[in-house]
Amino acid sequence: MNEKRSIPILYTAQEIKERTEGLAGEIAKVMPQEFVIVSLLRGSFMFTADLVRELYHIGVHPMIDFMTLSSYGASTESSGNVVINRDIAEDVNGKDVLIVDDILETGRTLSFAIEELKRRGAATLKVAMLLEKPGKLAVDVKADFVGFSIPDKFVVGYGLDYANHYRELPFIGYLDVH
Ligand code: IMP
Ligand code: MG
Repeated sequence: MNEKRSIPILYTAQEIKERTEGLAGEIAKVMPQEFVIVSLLRGSFMFTADLVRELYHIGVHPMIDFMTLSSYGASTESSGNVVINRDIAEDVNGKDVLIVDDILETGRTLSFAIEELKRRGAATLKVAMLLEKPGKLAVDVKADFVGFSIPDKFVVGYGLDYANHYRELPFIGYLDVH
C-alpha cells in the first residue's frame, strides 16, 4: 500500500461539509436539549468530529463517547459477527442517545449497537448515518438521519477503510473491487 492509488471520488470534502451541516440542522430539530452521542469507531471518527462541530455552531452541545465495534476483519463482506472491542465510559441508563456511524449496509452492526444500548437502559435511541447502501439490509433496522444514499460500491475515505487503509482521505471515494 505504499504506492498511491488513485481513488475515484464519490463525494468531495465540500459536498460532505455541506451535507453534514444539513444533518446537524435536522438533528437539532429533533433531539432533546441534552443527549449523548455514541460514535461507533473506527469508521465514524471523522464524521463525528465534523458533525459535533456543526452542532456546536447551531448551539447544540451533546456529551460524546465512543464504542469500537468490529464485524468485518480485513474483508469487504460483513461477517455478521459483531463484537465490542472498546466500550463507552458513559452510563447511558435513562439518557437520550444518538448513535453516529459511518455506513449502513446489512444493518447488523447498527442492530447490535441498538440492542446493546437498549439493554443498558437508554431512554431513547436515534441514529445518524453518514452513508447508507440501499437494498442491502439483512435485519430490520433504520437510520433516523442519513447523509447520503450511495450506489452499491465499496467506499473508502473520510474515516471508512479497506483493511484499515484510506481512512485519512478527506473525501469519499470507492474501490473497484466488485
Ligand atoms: P453492516 O453491519 O453490514 O451494516 O456494515 C456496517 C459496517 O461495515 C460499517 O460500519 C463499516 O465499517 C463496514 N462497511 C460496510 N460497507 C462498507 C464500505 O463500502 N466501505 C467500508 N466499510 C464498509
Ligand atoms: Mg470498517
